[in-house]
Amino acid sequence: MNFKLFLASSLLLAVSFCCAQQVGVKAPKLDTIVQNEQIESTSAEKFNKILAETFLLYVKTLKYHWNIRGPQFASLHAMLNSHYEQLAKQIDGIAERVRMLGDFPIGTCVEFLDQSKGIKEQPGVNPKDMQMLSELLADHTSVMDSLKEAIPFFENKKETDNVDFATKLLEEHQKMAWFLKSHLE
Ligand SMILES: [Fe+2]
Repeated sequence: MNFKLFLASSLLLAVSFCCAQQVGVKAPKLDTIVQNEQIESTSAEKFNKILAETFLLYVKTLKYHWNIRGPQFASLHAMLNSHYEQLAKQIDGIAERVRMLGDFPIGTCVEFLDQSKGIKEQPGVNPKDMQMLSELLADHTSVMDSLKEAIPFFENKKETDNVDFATKLLEEHQKMAWFLKSHLE
């Protein structure tokens, strides 16, 4: 760059800065820009997180279906059977949706565990029947929170098919949560 061009560029930059200060426009801070970039994610990433959470909830429901005991064993064993079948269907549907969006669904236990921090497993532990139901209810609530956060994101992007798909998942979780809650009242 020659000296005249350098001088002109510096002057232009200084004038822009002064104008921005005078009209009260604040330049975005670097940390704000970085934060916004971290918050931004794609629709496929949203669904991959929901996939991970649903997978963990599926495994947990399956384990409790096997290990639940107590006076209501037969009905609770059957209810959890119905729930894990519904979750298995959801898992496949969510993964296929990620493919439809042109991305790849995660499909390893390492990634499922990494992306489903809200759902805790309890290796080697089999709580009492009502404690199992209470935990599953909390886990459904956690997945529902992720869906409630994702739906407006899809709405903002005018992705009505994703909104409909996520809303259907939400309704299914609401129904399973209602069944669990009814046993706890
Ligand atoms: Fe079974």
